[in-house]
Amino acid sequence: MTRLIVRPAARLAGEAAVPGDKSITHRAILLAALAEGPTVVRRYLSADDCLRSLAAIESLGVAVKREPALLRIEGRGAGGLKEPSGPLDLGNSGTSLRLLTGLLSAQPFLSVLTGDASLRRRPMRRLIEPLREMGAEIFAWGGGERAPVVVQGRRPLRAVRTVLPVASAQLKSALLLAGLSAEGATQITEPARSRDHTERMLPQFGATVAIEPLGVRLAGPQPLRGAEIDVPADLSSGAFPLVAATIVQSAEVRVPAVGINPTRTGLLELLGRMGAKIEISKRREQSGEPVADLTARPAALRGLSIGGAWIVAMIDEFPILCVAAAVATGETVIRDAQELRVKESDRIAVMATELRKFGVRIEELPDGVRIAGGAPLRGAVGQSHGDHRVAMALAVAGLVAQGETVIEDVQCIETSFPGFAALFRQLGADVTEVSG
Ligand code: S3P
Repeated sequence: MTRLIVRPAARLAGEAAVPGDKSITHRAILLAALAEGPTVVRRYLSADDCLRSLAAIESLGVAVKREPALLRIEGRGAGGLKEPSGPLDLGNSGTSLRLLTGLLSAQPFLSVLTGDASLRRRPMRRLIEPLREMGAEIFAWGGGERAPVVVQGRRPLRAVRTVLPVASAQLKSALLLAGLSAEGATQITEPARSRDHTERMLPQFGATVAIEPLGVRLAGPQPLRGAEIDVPADLSSGAFPLVAATIVQSAEVRVPAVGINPTRTGLLELLGRMGAKIEISKRREQSGEPVADLTARPAALRGLSIGGAWIVAMIDEFPILCVAAAVATGETVIRDAQELRVKESDRIAVMATELRKFGVRIEELPDGVRIAGGAPLRGAVGQSHGDHRVAMALAVAGLVAQGETVIEDVQCIETSFPGFAALFRQLGADVTEVSG
């Protein structure tokens, strides 16, 4: 087991070049597998979650060349995929599991999708039902609720109109991948706009999608052609050095070339309202995605109350927002976040349990948390619960806690942010990895 030892940081300074965006890398890999002709993916995230998607398309017969910071994927079209010789093991990756279930629903062969214990607890029925309506035959454990999932795909599928029960980019994207091979218009409506990377990337592969006020429509079937995708740095990873630089005593940290897609910037906007000073410069566009350099400096934070559509725009940033709220003066209340109970861990329960160890006054609510911020944090022995974003958020808490902090079981950080500890050391923090 690997643990992190974190000591208080007096100053953080420098450039935090965080790895490529996880969501965008998954989409580039899967769309490339369906496309005719070669795709090049630059600055992709070479971390366990995305490598699971990559291994899955190789099992489907797609040739992949891995070079440092570059992937070459030889697509042979949606009709060129073959039945995998065994189950696809997707590790901890919810995005791989959901998106591939959609993609494989339109492949006329049998696929079995599974993953680690955390992935096998995550809800699947909400995706399986519309895919069955489209014509795929799908079975899942737990009475049709959880992985392993068995998919007997059909080609072509029937297009459907679906209203999603939750705002989820994984569900929306899975249905769009199936919709590419369906006859007619696939129309998806969601309660709030979730991240729209799939909608932005499909035109790069030559497809047409219509964006609607709270959804998307895709006329099928549509072939894809290979593309060149430049992956921006992941704002969900950049969130850790940005919050760290905001809450330590002295700091100036720049996160270059990071994605600032407006469906993902909830944390930046909330930190701004709390009093943070995060400067956005050099705005530009890269493969259909807005990108900028972000610079954070220390600021006094104030608590705030959020709920509703804020949640989807910061869905992966809940653990680090809890840390910012613990340091902020006054109360922070986060509601309408029940979806966080079915992420890589039950992030509501886990963050409440773990931050209490640091002396934070935090109350668990059915759909969120109430945090009485501003009391000094004390170093603690925290558990990751196998959740990468929990592990990293607690490590940032350790930078502003008195005394030493130990975060246990941090191997999971590899799923999204290889080099996390080294990057913080480069900024001047005292963060050590210890194995065994
Ligand atoms: C993701 C969507 C979100 C997010 C996950 C990545 C994606 O999940 O939490 O980390 O790449 O589409 P949901 O769609 O389940 O909210």
